Amino acid sequence: MNFHILTLFPEMVMGGLKTSITGRAMEKGVISVEAVNIRDYSHDKHHHVDDAPYGGGAGMVMQPGPVCEAYEALCEKLGKKPRVIYMTPQGKVFNQSIAQELSKEEDLVFLCGHYEGIDERALELICTDYLSIGDYVLTGGELPAMVMIDCISRLVPGVLNNEVSAEVESFHDNLLEYPQYTRPEVFREMAVPPVLLTGHHKNIEEWRRQQSIKRTLERRPDLLQNAVLSKKERKYLDQLLALAKEQEVEDEKDGESVFTDGASSGAGGA
Ligand code: ADE
Repeated sequence: MNFHILTLFPEMVMGGLKTSITGRAMEKGVISVEAVNIRDYSHDKHHHVDDAPYGGGAGMVMQPGPVCEAYEALCEKLGKKPRVIYMTPQGKVFNQSIAQELSKEEDLVFLCGHYEGIDERALELICTDYLSIGDYVLTGGELPAMVMIDCISRLVPGVLNNEVSAEVESFHDNLLEYPQYTRPEVFREMAVPPVLLTGHHKNIEEWRRQQSIKRTLERRPDLLQNAVLSKKERKYLDQLLALAKEQEVEDEKDGESVFTDGASSGAGGA
């Protein structure tokens, strides 16, 4: 899989992605990452790539010429027109299923804007996808591109040493990952859950799935709507929900009695 990043800050994206797992994947040749400096396509004698916005307003806008030319030169080199993803808070919010879909592409282009963004005409001409990494505004598209490339890379066969871990981790079947433990067996009087020491794979698998369900209910109940559960697991979830309901009723009762106590002692004190 080949990632091409159109950016004004090549050293920023390459520095980050050359590190750790993505860096090793690049060395192994299972992915490639190249950064194209948009500034190299400026025709300005000072290599400017931005100008003031028509109509007035704060900041600078990246001009369409260098962006389009950087993309066209890349297409010429590749002999094809890959998908171009523009990093923008106005885009669809990136998630694991978008990552899965994108990991099937042979080449992907990530277009990173800076300042007040890129002239709309360049976007209209070259972009196929608009993606965001969340509802907040960053200074540029480089960090979002790195986030997406990191996430997509780990789905490319050969990037992770352990092939199964990409599947089992958070969001597989729309569930969060189960808790993990390693040595020592007891840490500050906290013991590792005994089932994990039994070597009984079926029980361990069942315990882990239950932990995933419990954790998803506690931390991201919104995911459960689309969770893939067996009949037995759905029953387990129903039990958890019933327990939570009971607890809620108990808490309400406690709350009332605290209120009653408080009120009566207050009245007594008056
Ligand atoms: N550029 C600036 N903020 C962004 C965000 N949240 N996601 C993607 N690109 C961005």
